[in-house]
Amino acid sequence: MDDLVVGTPRQLDYMQGMEDGWMATKVHKAVWAVKQSDGEVTVLSPLCTHLGCGYAWDAQETKFKCPCHGSVYDVSGNVLAGPAPRRLDVLPSKIEEGRLYIIYKEFRAGLRNAVEI
Ligand code: FES
Repeated sequence: MDDLVVGTPRQLDYMQGMEDGWMATKVHKAVWAVKQSDGEVTVLSPLCTHLGCGYAWDAQETKFKCPCHGSVYDVSGNVLAGPAPRRLDVLPSKIEEGRLYIIYKEFRAGLRNAVEI
């Protein structure tokens, strides 16, 4: 995680194995990682808290923006504008031997408090 720049979010992609009965598939997922000035890394759920759309980092305006209904978040995930009812959800994570480990979770959209699905 040494290549993360403080205050500049980076989308990290990964494949998650899923099993449903006899069927095993892989699903492409992504999260946003933000390195803090103290070296800690905050990992944000990729889903807007309004209705669950994917959002993106606008490097020029230094804000996360959701294209669906216009929610805007700061680099820490706090709501700046739009209908989002709460900040972006933070995923549990840790760094060990230079590798970032994440527990991927999803939360109900549209609620003021984060309720895990
Ligand atoms: S889903 Fe993001 S603003 Fe509505």
